Amino acid sequence: MLRVYLDHMATTPVAREVLAEMLPYLENCYGNPARPYDLGAEAREAVERARRRVAELLNASPSEIIFTSSGAEANNLAVRGLAEANRSRGMHLLTSAIEHHSTLNAFRALQKQGYVVNFLPVTRAGEVLPERVEEAITPADNAGVGDACKLRGWHAAGCARDC
Ligand SMILES: Cc1ncc(COP(=O)(O)O)c(C=O)c1O
Repeated sequence: MLRVYLDHMATTPVAREVLAEMLPYLENCYGNPARPYDLGAEAREAVERARRRVAELLNASPSEIIFTSSGAEANNLAVRGLAEANRSRGMHLLTSAIEHHSTLNAFRALQKQGYVVNFLPVTRAGEVLPERVEEAITPADNAGVGDACKLRGWHAAGCARDC
């Protein structure tokens, strides 16, 4: 029977190069990187080396690279972490209605903390139309939208549509 697997976004076979890179750590250097003994320190150095390599690939700083144990953890960290870190800039959040449930649940958790969340509808192609974003932005959000535009070097006037 022919088996067709279409869920590679959830889990996928490990590429040979990745397996080759990982094997020494799975077989020999399996220490907990958070522990001070030698095996842990070696694992820590390997994690930091990987962090530097990923940062270089993404043209980011190593301190901006955070490894998580799952997609759901990463979504929670991004959504809840960003909202809480920017709480003083506003508590109105927009997302699409078709996000993974770990993302939707992160936004629902924020709603319970007093954030106002718009779950924007999407087209049949799964796109959020700029008009839906424009409709959802309130006058109170304008300062934040203006800041976001300035950060990208855009003129504030009318940029809500392009953000
Ligand atoms: C977009 C997206 N986010 C999160 C997840 C959840 O990932 P995990 O099972 O690693 O927590 C998936 C899994 O398919 C996903 O596709």
